[in-house]
Amino acid sequence: MTVTPAMEPTTAPAIPERTALHRRFLMCRPEHFTVSYAINPWMDPAAGADADRAVKQWEELRAAYLSLGHDVELIDPVPGLPDMVFAANGALVVGGRAYGARFTHPERAAEGPAYAAWLRARGFEVMDPSHTNEGEGDFLTLDHVILAGTGFRTEIAAHQEAQEYLGRPVVTLRLVDPRFYHLDTALFPLTGDNVAYYPGAFSPGSRAVLERLFPHAVLATEADAAVLGLNAVSDGRNVVINAEAAGLAGSLRAAGFHPVPVDLTELRKAGGGPKCCTLELRT
Ligand code: ARG
Repeated sequence: MTVTPAMEPTTAPAIPERTALHRRFLMCRPEHFTVSYAINPWMDPAAGADADRAVKQWEELRAAYLSLGHDVELIDPVPGLPDMVFAANGALVVGGRAYGARFTHPERAAEGPAYAAWLRARGFEVMDPSHTNEGEGDFLTLDHVILAGTGFRTEIAAHQEAQEYLGRPVVTLRLVDPRFYHLDTALFPLTGDNVAYYPGAFSPGSRAVLERLFPHAVLATEADAAVLGLNAVSDGRNVVINAEAAGLAGSLRAAGFHPVPVDLTELRKAGGGPKCCTLELRT
C-alpha cells in the first residue's frame, strides 16, 4: 500500500495590513528653482530647468500629502537659493529638537540658517552643528535607530554629534555611487522598523549592516534607483514615490503598501525627488 504524504497548504502567505501614521511636513515652494551650478551628477547648468513646471509638479506633491491627511507647513523660498526646495536638507527634527544643517557646498550654505530660523520661530530647540551635515538628506529616522549616510556630504563626526544631541543610536552607512550622494536617494524607511534600499549604493560593509538590521527589507533594482525611486516618503501604508519607479512600486504593493505615484521630473534635474522636498517635523 502506498502512503500519500500530507499536502502542504497552497495558500499564499498573507499580505500584512498596513497602518498609516499622521505626519507633519515642512516644504518650500520652488519659486526660485533653477539649475545654475552642478554639485551632483544629475545637475547640468547648460540644460537649466523650468521653475514654473517645477512649481506645478511640487504643488501636486503637496496635494498628495494633504489628500493622505498629512499636515504641510511652508517656509518662504529665498531668492538666489535655487535648491532651497529640497527641505529635507534643512535639518533633522526628532522629538521636538532640531539638529541644524551645515552644507558641504557654499552655494547652499545660507539654507542652514534659514531653516534654523523657521524652526526656532515655531518653538523647536535648534542646535547649530559643528560638523558638515545635510539634514534628512543623510539622516533617516526609524523607531529605534537613525540611519546616517556618509561618503559624499555628511561627515561621520556629525553622525556622532546628532546621536549625542538627540539621544538616539545613529548607524553610519557608507555611500559609494556618486549618483546616490545622499542616503535618501538610496534608501527610505517603510515603517518604524523596516526599509527599502538599493544595495549597489552602499559599501560592502554597509550592505552587510543593512542585511543584518533589516532581513525583510524591500530591495530595489538599479533601474528603480536611477529614476530616484528610493527618494520616497512612507507613512507606514502610503508611499509617495516617483511614477517611473514601476518595479519598486510593484514590490511595495506585494508587501502590502499603497504606492502614490508623483511626477517630479523637473526637480530631478537638480537631483531631487519627493523625499528631498519634504522635511518631517517630529514632535
Ligand atoms: N541639488 C541638490 C544638492 O545636490 C539636491 C538635493 C537633494 N536633496 C536630497 N535630500 N537628496 O544638494
